[in-house]
Amino acid sequence: MEANQRIARIAAHLHPSNDQMEGGSVLERANCRAKGGAPGFKVAILGAAGGIGQPLAMLMKMNPLVSVLHLYDVVNAPGVTADISHMDTGAVVRGFLGQPQLDAALTGMDLVIIPAGVPRKPGMTRDDLFKINAGIVRTLCEGITRSCPNAIVNLISNPVNSTVPIAAEVFKKAGTYDPKRLLGVTMLDVVRANTFVAEVLGLDPREVSVPVVGGHAGVTILPLLSQVKPPCSFTKEETEYLTKRIQDGGTEVVQAKAGAGSATLSMAYAAVKFADCCLRGLRGDAGIVECAYVASQGQIQGKPQKTEKVRNTLDHSFGWYAHVTELPFFASQVRLGRGGAEEIYQLGPLNEYERGPKQYKILVEQRIYHLINMTQTGLDWRKPKKSWQQALKREFLS
Ligand SMILES: NC(=O)c1ccc[n+]([C@@H]2O[C@H](COP(=O)([O-])OP(=O)(O)OC[C@H]3O[C@@H](n4cnc5c(N)ncnc54)[C@H](O)[C@@H]3O)[C@@H](O)[C@H]2O)c1
Repeated sequence: MEANQRIARIAAHLHPSNDQMEGGSVLERANCRAKGGAPGFKVAILGAAGGIGQPLAMLMKMNPLVSVLHLYDVVNAPGVTADISHMDTGAVVRGFLGQPQLDAALTGMDLVIIPAGVPRKPGMTRDDLFKINAGIVRTLCEGITRSCPNAIVNLISNPVNSTVPIAAEVFKKAGTYDPKRLLGVTMLDVVRANTFVAEVLGLDPREVSVPVVGGHAGVTILPLLSQVKPPCSFTKEETEYLTKRIQDGGTEVVQAKAGAGSATLSMAYAAVKFADCCLRGLRGDAGIVECAYVASQGQIQGKPQKTEKVRNTLDHSFGWYAHVTELPFFASQVRLGRGGAEEIYQLGPLNEYERGPKQYKILVEQRIYHLINMTQTGLDWRKPKKSWQQALKREFLS
């Protein structure tokens, strides 16, 4: 009998999704935990069989903070799950294939990482990409509202500048929106910035920290080279070289891969680095500050109170969230904690280059981009009362 149970336990790992679908699993899900499995967090990866998803799944399986890892995709999830499940690390892995298994994949998750979608291919515009990925993100987020509305969501699917607002609208519609828990992953911009700046300074990249704010598309990516740690200075040429290389990092990889794909390995690394920070925040570790694309201001409920008092802090009464810029979403430095992005930091002192008219133009473009996309999808969009141009001018040109 015991031998049968042991075999059934192994089988439950190999074919978890089918068993769950048929409701005839020999062992209940709770019993699938390996003996002596470490306590930890439950993490789901949606799009786990993709170019990013697979190395991401492998690296999350190696993360000691993860006790359960759910791998969901519309293709090849069982294969990736079988492969990853042979790794002798603590996390229990289960696979889920296709939309009928989405809710099962998400039930009880603490953290959901979403690299599902199509990457940009040659000849594809940002809008083509947007149209496909918007629908995918919407479907997946609807699953989150049903099965794990309190989970932290790390959204990787591009264009992040627009998929994050879409996710927010889905959550709002379901009444589950908490802006603290919706985080667009811009860590790859930070990882690249740290690497490229370290190269210029002749330092180990692990010693370098570069905040990258703005958005996550081309010119909206704004590395704050004036705030690099350790403190340093750059010539105008270095600033321009570094800013452009960080902004064009994705293109650099696409060109080098010559039609064989885009950034997947460095993205998986960046996603895991960010997810690990989120998990350590959930655990209650102090002082975790990273960049993410988050709600920059917004009325969740109640009347807006744009006073100095609420600037730079989170309103724990769940009224006004934060007010960093006039833009609805903005990549900012955030402090990660048990509730997600518990504090959003102001941009800090910007130098002349970072405050200049060029950056102002970039932010205006980003805003237009939001508006176009939001209109296209017909999502609920409320224009802020004040003219956004004026507000941006105040933020960046004053
Ligand atoms: N945030 C960033 O910094 C960053 C960096 C690189 C790539 N990306 C984006 O990440 C996404 C994935 O890139 P990739 O290279 O892994 O692409 P990929 O095509 O290799 O993988 C995408 C995976 O998503 C799956 N998928 C498609 N529709 C799905 C659905 N409805 N539900 C679940 N899974 C679904 C596919 O089956 C595939 O396995 C793209 O949108 C890409 O642009 C983001």
